[in-house]
Amino acid sequence: MNVPFYDVKAQYDSQAAEIDAVVHEVISSGAYVLGKHNKGFEEEFAALHGTKHAIAVHSGTDALRIIMDAAGITRGDEVITTAFTFVASVETIVQTGATPVFVDVDPNTFMMDPACIEAAITPRTKAILPIHLFGQLCDVSAIKAIAEKHNLIVLEDAAQAIESSHNGVLAGNFGLAAGFSFYVTKNLGAAGDGGMIVTNSDEVAETCRSIRVHGMGRERYYYDHLGYTGRLDEIQAAVLRVKMKKLPEWTARRNEIAAIYRRELSGIEGVQLPLVSEGNNHTYHQFTVRATKRDALQEHLKQNGVPSMIYYPVPIHHHTPYKQFTPSWDLSATDLVSAEVLSLPIQPYLTDDHVAYTCEQIRAFR
Ligand SMILES: Cc1ncc(COP(=O)(O)O)c(C=O)c1O
Repeated sequence: MNVPFYDVKAQYDSQAAEIDAVVHEVISSGAYVLGKHNKGFEEEFAALHGTKHAIAVHSGTDALRIIMDAAGITRGDEVITTAFTFVASVETIVQTGATPVFVDVDPNTFMMDPACIEAAITPRTKAILPIHLFGQLCDVSAIKAIAEKHNLIVLEDAAQAIESSHNGVLAGNFGLAAGFSFYVTKNLGAAGDGGMIVTNSDEVAETCRSIRVHGMGRERYYYDHLGYTGRLDEIQAAVLRVKMKKLPEWTARRNEIAAIYRRELSGIEGVQLPLVSEGNNHTYHQFTVRATKRDALQEHLKQNGVPSMIYYPVPIHHHTPYKQFTPSWDLSATDLVSAEVLSLPIQPYLTDDHVAYTCEQIRAFR
């Protein structure tokens, strides 16, 4: 059996007529830039996450870069974050001229360990960027409390956290602003790139809207900020609106698969199942286990038709452009999880047979 890790074609097939119709509608309308689908998608996303504003942008990376600019992060500032992440979380900090300051992660949740934050705060610290990984939120209450005590801005990397919540409060409502990604393989994926900024601040929303279009102010060709071409394509907005209708069904299926994994894979020596923090609603962008013999397990699965992914094999501060940001303290949990994580297939078009077969192969590994 060959198990598909991602199957974005199956997602398209389930809505082909509707997607084809909206793509045709946009192309034949001639309204290609910031049209009615951008506006509609922003309204629908803000309603989904319960935020006052949603601003559609070209990618999750642009969302992060724009919220950092809007928050005034600049040269000389320090931003506390974690090195166990996708590079965009950190490259955007560096691009502002600020310095990323890495703190360690909790080895059970893979995310920022709030106990490490205060020791990393200096007079130059401006913000904390928690990264909500794999479909659940960081310890947002603890992080917020520290930020408030030290008068720091919180910006959320919510690229993987659509629909994720803590005690019923959805991602994007904990910081000054948050960035989401609609990269093809995300829980809600575009037919290409896409991203969203959310914020409850009118001022930040207005600044982000301006930066998205070259920093233009209310008057055409008058500029208030340094900006980008950061708009979301109208075709992508239209496709995302259609796909968003299926999101509850897809998330429910991810949760069903996670429940099967939990039932079938518990108690296997050397394999630790992902911890769900109390109060968190997990949306299972990934189902990431820790395995002591990770590389051998991955090879065994591959030989038997079960693909798996290592998100992320090398912490950011070990890569050439970021070595200069290696902190003076150790990041032992960051290094440990990078050596042990393995993400199992969990996309919504897996059949029960795919999931049962995957479990069988994991149990057969010695
Ligand atoms: C944690 C994290 N941050 C940021 C991004 C950047 O999003 P995008 O690929 O849409 O630019 C991603 C997406 O891959 C991500 O997983």
